[in-house]
Parts: sequence; structure tokens; C-alpha cells
Amino acid sequence: MNSKAEASITIDVPITREDPDTLGNIVKTGLLGNPRTLPSKLFYDERGSTLFEQICELPEYYQTRTEHQLLVTWADEIVELSGAEELVELGSGAATKTRVLLDAMTRADQLRHFVPFDVDETIVRRVSEELVQEYPGLQIHGVAGDFLVHLEHIPEGGKRLVVILGGTIGNLPTIAAEDFLTSVNTEMASGDFFLLGVQLITDPRRLEAAYNDQKGITAKFNKNILRVLRNQLGAQCDPDKFDHVARFNQEAHRIEMWLRSTQDQTIDIPDLDLSVPLNKDEEIRTELSAKYDHPLAENLLICAGFEMVKWYTDPDQLISLALAKKP
Ligand code: AVJ
Repeated sequence: MNSKAEASITIDVPITREDPDTLGNIVKTGLLGNPRTLPSKLFYDERGSTLFEQICELPEYYQTRTEHQLLVTWADEIVELSGAEELVELGSGAATKTRVLLDAMTRADQLRHFVPFDVDETIVRRVSEELVQEYPGLQIHGVAGDFLVHLEHIPEGGKRLVVILGGTIGNLPTIAAEDFLTSVNTEMASGDFFLLGVQLITDPRRLEAAYNDQKGITAKFNKNILRVLRNQLGAQCDPDKFDHVARFNQEAHRIEMWLRSTQDQTIDIPDLDLSVPLNKDEEIRTELSAKYDHPLAENLLICAGFEMVKWYTDPDQLISLALAKKP
């Protein structure tokens, strides 16, 4: 690394400029829809990010440690193939797995810039402070934003490796995932690399167990969306009047999380002029988590304008990393 480079942090916060009406409209449309839905990005306030970090440590949630191990095994090769000097991570969260890539870039003497991009501003700030200490000379340009809206806030950079890990892409229905990856591709320069972590289709019992943990952390995480609704939009609702439900939808090859009303009740959001009556056992869908196989994922990448470079998969075929390139 250039010894003259000064470590630095810049943080963009386009998310605060999100029109409250926009969020309100999304929530309103979702709650009045059939099925009723809430947008998954609402999970991730500070408490939600912390709960998600706890999920990643659960014995049932194999996803995080499997992907982490894949990165440990292949990071040096990925970094070498990419030749990247800048790492951009969409949905960076606590950036635990990111450190494996940053370490590999350091070993290759390629590390210059890191762009953590997350919907939770608190975690973007925390991670930036930590990493600038851990990687002397690293220049960090964080973005606290919604990656479906604020991608253009990714700063111009050198040769890049853009990563989306953790199966985050699974939160989007296929068409939206394709549109999103196309926008990511548009932000990239020819020759830049892209690394996509996908959760593979596997035994439904194993999948369902990963979202129905014994300690009930996933249930808390699911219900947190109602607290965020209360805090951000002044909704009148009681998270304790809902049960956590997670099940595998075979046909759509995805886990779906729902909140099931334990009684007849109403969610009121006075600011939105909204009153949503719920019958006992009525459900609100809070998350999709699509699982992929290689053909499905390759199709997505190619439709988005990428060229496939290499697949990395764990021995139990639970998680894959797709390394791709913008031609
Ligand atoms: C962050 C979307 C990848 O779908 O596995 C974990 C979120 N939800 N447990 C996933 C989640 C419940 C996670 N992603």
C-alpha cells in the first residue's frame, strides 16, 4: 500500500432524503395488498441489525458460516482474478465476511478503497470507524441508502470488485432481482468483477429450521418490523399480538416469513390515514428469501449483463459464490 495514503472516512446518507411519503406509500400499498406485505428493508433499524447478527451465530442458520468458510478458502483467488483495488459491498451490515476479502486484498497489496453500503446508517458508521483502524491507509466511502434507489451514490473508483453476500439477493422476487442486478451492472465499468452469494435450494426441513430457531431470535427479528413501523411511521400495533411463521414455498423455491395475527385486531397508521383490520390467523408477509440453483442464478447474471467467470460451492452444496465480470 502507498505509505503516503491517508486513512479517511466519508459517509453519504441519501436515505435521510427518502421522502417519508415514499415509505408511507410503500407501506400503505403493501398492507392493503393481497397478500398483505411489508418491505423487508424495514427490519434493519439498529435493533434489527443486531438481531440479524445474532441470527448469523445460530446453530440452525448454516448460511453465514458456510459462506464465510467459502470466502476463507477462495478469497485470495477471487481477489487475484479480479485485480480490484476497491471493494464495494451492497448490504454490508456488520461486514464480518467482508474482512476476509479485505485481508486478501491487503495480502495482494491491492487494497485502496472500501465502499460499505447499507440501509442502516448506524452500522455503516460503526463499520467504517472499525475498519479504518484495522486497515491502515484504507479510504472508506460509506453509503447509508436503499440499494434499490441510491446506487448512483457509489463513488467513482478504481478497478472494482462489487459484492452482494449472504443471499441478500434472495430478498427480491426474480424480476426485481434482475432489474436490480442490471442497475448494479450499469454502475460498473467494463472489466470490473462482481461476486454474488446465493443460498442454494436444499432440503426443505433444513431450510425451514434455519428460519425457525429454537431460541426464537428469528421470531424477534420478524416482529421487529412492527416496532420499526411504530417508530418510523407512528403505527399503532402490538408486536406481541402476532406469531412468527416461516415456511418453504416449494414452487417459488423460497422461504417466506409471515406475521400471523393471534386475534382480530386493527393496525392504525393515522399519518397515512390508514386502518388495516386483521382477522385472527390473517397473515402479513414480511420477507421472501429465494433459494437458487446454478442455472437460475446464471440466467439472472447473464440477463443483467454479466459474464460468468467461476462458481465456488461448499461440499454440502448449501451456498455458492458466483464470480462474474462486466464484459
Ligand atoms: C439477509 C435476506 C439473506 O433471507 O436468510 C435471516 C435474512 N431472515 N433469517 C435470509 C433472514 C431471517 C436473510 N438475508
